[in-house]
Amino acid sequence: MIFIRETTRGRSIPALFLVIFVLITIIIGCSDSDDDDSPNSINNSTPSVSISTYQESLEANNQIDMSTLAQNPTPYIPPQCYTKVLDENEQAHNPCYTCHINGKHPNPVDDRFLQSEYSLPPEVSFNPWANFFKNRQTELSKITDSEILTYVRTSNYLTENNTIKIAEELPQEWPGYRPDCYFNFDENGFDINPNTGEMTGWRAFRYQPFLGTFWPTNGSFDDVLIRLSESFRVDINQKVSTDVYKYNLAVVEALIKQTSINTEPINEQLANCDLDGNGIIQTAEKIDWTSLNNCTSHFAGAAG
Ligand code: HEC
Repeated sequence: MIFIRETTRGRSIPALFLVIFVLITIIIGCSDSDDDDSPNSINNSTPSVSISTYQESLEANNQIDMSTLAQNPTPYIPPQCYTKVLDENEQAHNPCYTCHINGKHPNPVDDRFLQSEYSLPPEVSFNPWANFFKNRQTELSKITDSEILTYVRTSNYLTENNTIKIAEELPQEWPGYRPDCYFNFDENGFDINPNTGEMTGWRAFRYQPFLGTFWPTNGSFDDVLIRLSESFRVDINQKVSTDVYKYNLAVVEALIKQTSINTEPINEQLANCDLDGNGIIQTAEKIDWTSLNNCTSHFAGAAG
């Protein structure tokens, strides 16, 4: 059993903020922020609030104070770094190794030393994520079983018209990410806008679950999807092409892993490249690392 270190100074940062922080970190990680070609389903008939009014409503609904939140000098250091490493029996556990490692190319970071020392900057040697220590027992006891069942069985993401609630609620001039994934995947894992039948560009994929302390009890959850920029999803005539997209995603996978990979069938003619190294330009079910590096262009379609 691992516990989060007790805080010594109180600051109130609610779980909602953490959830948003983790989700955005994960989603934005693979997305280009100015990729706004997907229909965002903004309901223009809804009067749009200003950013400051929106922020005030968030503060009121979640009992938070943005100016206090902004005082955390190191919001980039997640609560996981404050995990208590000694259990009740003084036995040491090392959850830090899941994130602080000797990175493999193309990740140049080597911060293995953080596994064995608490070298946090002095001003945040206490745990600033005080929301972890708030006892919510009273609030919890007020929620009945039927209320929670209704809650989990009702979508708080999509409206009855299959539009994305939060995308509509965000102010019109919102500069950040406006959720545009419908979690409506076809048999190939491509997310489809149920209203237009178009691909949103998001794709689900199998991945090895990542260790860490991203448990719902810690205010986190995750979903990992990928979306490449529009030029990786269209052919040379700027027409959306799942074949081009599959090709480019497979190449991205090989480039991230820096090795040969097995893949779904991909059309080598799209970039005129013998990806599997069998001497024929046809269909490849694997990408051979050396052959990929011999290709004139790594990518197919408009990105090629
Ligand atoms: C879920 C991933 C994750 C886990 C698990 C994790 N860390 Fe971190 N840690 C980060 C990230 C992200 C940062 C901020 C970026 C950076 O400095 O690398 C960070 C930053 C830090 C820093 C600040 C480094 C600096 O440059 O100021 C320290 C110290 C640290 N972690 C210690 C730990 C310790 C000790 C543990 C285990 C008890 C731990 N971390 C577990 C992700 C993690």
